[in-house]
This record gives sequence, C-alpha cells and structure tokens, in this order.
Amino acid sequence: MNITELIKTRKSVRTFDGRPLSEEDEAKLRAFCEKTENPFGTPVSVVWLDAKERGLSSPVIVGETAYLACKTPKRKRCELAVGYAFERIVLYAWSLGVGTTWIGGTMKRELFEKAAETGDGEFMPVVSPLGYPAKERSEIDVRLRERVRGDEREPASNLFFELDFLCPMSEPDEALEAVRWAPSAVNLQPWRVIKDGPRYHFYEKHSLETEQTVGWDVQKIDMGIALYHFMAVSGGRCEISDPRLAADPDVEYIATVTV
Ligand SMILES: Cc1cc2nc3c(=O)[nH]c(=O)nc-3n(C[C@H](O)[C@H](O)[C@H](O)COP(=O)(O)O)c2cc1C
Repeated sequence: MNITELIKTRKSVRTFDGRPLSEEDEAKLRAFCEKTENPFGTPVSVVWLDAKERGLSSPVIVGETAYLACKTPKRKRCELAVGYAFERIVLYAWSLGVGTTWIGGTMKRELFEKAAETGDGEFMPVVSPLGYPAKERSEIDVRLRERVRGDEREPASNLFFELDFLCPMSEPDEALEAVRWAPSAVNLQPWRVIKDGPRYHFYEKHSLETEQTVGWDVQKIDMGIALYHFMAVSGGRCEISDPRLAADPDVEYIATVTV
C-alpha cells in the first residue's frame, strides 16, 4: 500500500485477536520506533511495553498484547512533535497489518507513566495498544465508534479554504484529503487549512479545553498528525511563519507548509 492508501484504510483498532506480534513484525516495528522524526525540534521517544508483564490495559481495548508509550520533554510545540512522530509509527505499523489506537484519555495514566519511566521534565501524552485486528469488534468498540462517528469526517468545505477563511474549498487535493482522514481526539477534526499558492497555512480550531485542565493541548497532537499526513503525501517544508490572516478567536495559527 502507498501512503495515501495507508492513511485511508487505517482505523482505530480497539479489538485485537490476542496473538502476540510475530517475531518479524515486532523486530521491524521496534527498529522503526528507535528513530522517530518530526520537524519541530523536540525529540520524541517511544517505549515498548508488554501488556501482561506490566499489568497494562485500557477499558476500551480488548485482546492487546503490548503498548507503545510516547514520551517527550515538556516544551513549546511538543504536542505537535508527538502527533507527527507517533502517527508516522502508527502508519508504519498499519503497513505491517498491526493495529493501533491513539489513547490519550481512556487509560490509567499513572500506571503507563510509571511503566514507561517518564522522567522529570518529560511527559507521556499518549499510548497505543498493539496487535492484530480481531475479525469482529467488541461491543464497547462498536458503541464507541458510533458515539464519536469514527467512520465519518467533515466535508472538505468546512475544513479547507483558499486565500482566506471566507472562501471554502470544495475540491481538496490529495494531500488535503489525507489531512481530512487523520485521526483526532473525540474525532473533533480541529484542522483548518488556508491554501495560498504553494503555501498551506495550518490552523487549529479549539474545541477541547484540555490545556486548562491537564496542562497540555490534546488538539495540538491532532495538528501534528494532520501535518504528518499532509507532508507524507506532498513533501514540502514546514515553518512557523504566521501570515496574520483574519481568523475567529478560537482559531490559532500553527504552521505553514510550502510545497
Ligand atoms: C490524540 C488522540 C487521542 C485519542 N484518545 C482516545 C482515547 O483515549 N480512547 C479512545 O478510544 N480513542 C481515542 N482516540 C481515537 C479517536 O477516537 C479516533 O481517532 C477517532 O474517533 C477517528 O476514528 P479512526 O481513528 O478510526 O479514524 C484518540 C485519538 C487521538 C488522535
């Protein structure tokens, strides 16, 4: 599968068949996790945790055998770095047929933080179970997908614009379509993009106030994921260079990719 196919076929897998990863898949995925990449200048590390050995689970996940935990120093744009770096791993896992689900809420955070040996000045925003998808989804998986409408996305015209926020785009290019299909917390899809020739300005529409409650912004992780999808399809250079276009107060400029 090419990157666009991987992006379009990936779904959160919450029901696994209980088999551990094959030696070959585990070796490939472990090697891939050793070298994370992101354009935001913050290192991201990924820790492999055996679920049984460490007593790790999530109330929405069934049949997993391992978890990946993602750690980063707490500094500016670290959430973007996590989103970008971890989605790269999620899609690589999917290329091996290994299922994942971004988990930022439905877990006992302290247990995972301890197991991942999260140090001072570091934080561990997300984890993902690993395993092979089961043939049928568990009841909680089905209900959760229905609740967040996991199979649906906003129409492009609500998300993408030309030159300013007044001109919705109805026919997105392949890279923007890849942004549209990104996973996001509670499937809220906070990404908004204004295209100006070769420059694509990425904005975050805030709809979850996690920064006030937990001290970091989960929707910035979603933005990092969106930026990875876009750049994996189109390439380009990512920089922070606010064009200062008019935007609603709940819409924050994040980054510009020039292709
Ligand atoms: C940053 C982030 C945090 C998430 N946290 C959770 C979570 O705690 N529990 C859960 O079941 N799903 C979680 N999800 C998965 C989303 O619900 C899912 O990506 C979205 O509904 C779209 O469905 P899809 O991934 O199958 O395309 C999270 C996703 C992201 C990107």
